[in-house]
Amino acid sequence: MRTVLRAERDRGISLYQRAEDLESLEAAQTVVLGRKSAFSEIQRSLGALDPDERRDVGKIANEARQALTEAFDTRRSAMDAIVETALLAADAMDLSLPGRRARHGSFHPLTIVERELVQVFTSLGFKVAEGPEIEDDWHNFQALNIPPDHPARTMKDSLYVSVPGHPELLLRTETSAVQIRTMQSQPPPVYIVAPGRVFRRETPDATHSPVFHQLEGLAVDEGITFADLKGTLEAAVKALFGQDRRVRLGPAFFPFVEPGCEVGVSCFRCDGVGCTVCGSGWIELLGAGMVHPQVLENCGYDSERYTGFAFGMGIDRVALLKYAIPDIRMLFDGDMRFLAQFEGVA
Ligand code: PHE
Repeated sequence: MRTVLRAERDRGISLYQRAEDLESLEAAQTVVLGRKSAFSEIQRSLGALDPDERRDVGKIANEARQALTEAFDTRRSAMDAIVETALLAADAMDLSLPGRRARHGSFHPLTIVERELVQVFTSLGFKVAEGPEIEDDWHNFQALNIPPDHPARTMKDSLYVSVPGHPELLLRTETSAVQIRTMQSQPPPVYIVAPGRVFRRETPDATHSPVFHQLEGLAVDEGITFADLKGTLEAAVKALFGQDRRVRLGPAFFPFVEPGCEVGVSCFRCDGVGCTVCGSGWIELLGAGMVHPQVLENCGYDSERYTGFAFGMGIDRVALLKYAIPDIRMLFDGDMRFLAQFEGVA
């Protein structure tokens, strides 16, 4: 029995050591110590031995079992270590690899143009003003002298907002509403520009969008004349499109200015000759005029003492011209292939 026990112990230890995985290790354990093993058989027959013999063989059996358990545990932790090493290796990072470059964001072309416009006018002494995108009838129409039967006031052209208890709210149709809010909130003199979104009921196509952007300008002070309007716009246009640009004024009607005019700039591509950008050689860039005395009065300004000029320019239109963008919808699609072209522009 003693010899068998020792032989079984050695056989078990060597089986354990050769086991390649947990499964074969456990199988080896069953072979050596399982119910049908020589080991178990001897332990079962211990009872039949005489006491001295039983104690002696029992001790050897326990020692052998102990040795086997230790060998099992040793092999088992060695296996765990191997698995862990393999997992770590699979998970390894190569810290010497060059990193992936994070892509730079860029300004939207409208933002680029807006900032440039604002920069031009603030350098002339104008401050930036803002107003809400949801306006009421008074600020958007009445105060601007837009009469009740004006087509802009119909559902066909304006986007009304239904808020219970506020029947006359609409998305502002022009930034001119900011003229009114600014004059209401401060006494003259006023020199402001107001960039912002405006909304009209339009079906989108290459040149129309229901949402677009304007930059409003307003100057009210004592002794402001039409010459100041022309001089300011000339300086702004040259700063924006180049010193060689010329400005031309033509008559136009807007209810909140008198006289009103349309301002064109000589084409920056063909310089007034006529090309595919401009057609006629001139690009109509904005509406402008002398603030109507009634508008000043509507805001509580003394129209005998103060005069002013105002202008409104389409920011989208400037962006389209400046970057030769063929379709206004590209400004609103959010297509990265388009937007990424403005990386590093401003
Ligand atoms: N608000 C006018 C428009 O949207 C432009 C404008 C502004 C005209 C200020 C005159 C004075 O067309």
